[in-house]
Amino acid sequence: MASVEVDISLIEPGQRITIKWRGKPVFVVYRTDAMLAQAREDDGNPALIDPATDSERAPRPEWLIMVGVCTHLGCIPLGQKDSDPRGPYGGWFCPCHGSIYDASGRVRKGPAPRNLPIPPYAFLDDHRIRIG
Ligand code: FES
Repeated sequence: MASVEVDISLIEPGQRITIKWRGKPVFVVYRTDAMLAQAREDDGNPALIDPATDSERAPRPEWLIMVGVCTHLGCIPLGQKDSDPRGPYGGWFCPCHGSIYDASGRVRKGPAPRNLPIPPYAFLDDHRIRIG
C-alpha cells in the first residue's frame, strides 16, 4: 500500500497514536500548547546533532507526524504510551542503545545520527491525513 489515510478527528490533544505505513510505524501526535512550547524551546540550539527547527518538522504545528524508527539501527523508540520512558526532553527513548529524541523528534543523544524522519503527508481536510 503506497499511501494510507488516517482519521484524526478522534485524537485528543496530547494524545500520541501509531499507525502503519509501508510496514513501518508512523507516530502521529496531537500537540498541546505546552508540548509545542517544549518542542520549540531548543530551536536554534547549537548542540543539536541534526539541526532543524520545530516548524520545519511540523508545518501545521499542532500535528507532529514522524516515522517511528530509530535512525541508529531501526528499533522502535518508546514514548507513544504515557507509561513509556520519554527521556529528559519529553520525546522518545530508544531502548536498544539509549538514543534520546526530544519533543520535536530531534535526536538529542546518540548513537542515532539523525532526527526521526518526516514521511510525505498531506492534510485532506481538517479530519484526515494521507501519509505517503
Ligand atoms: Fe535506537 Fe540503536 S537502534 S539507539
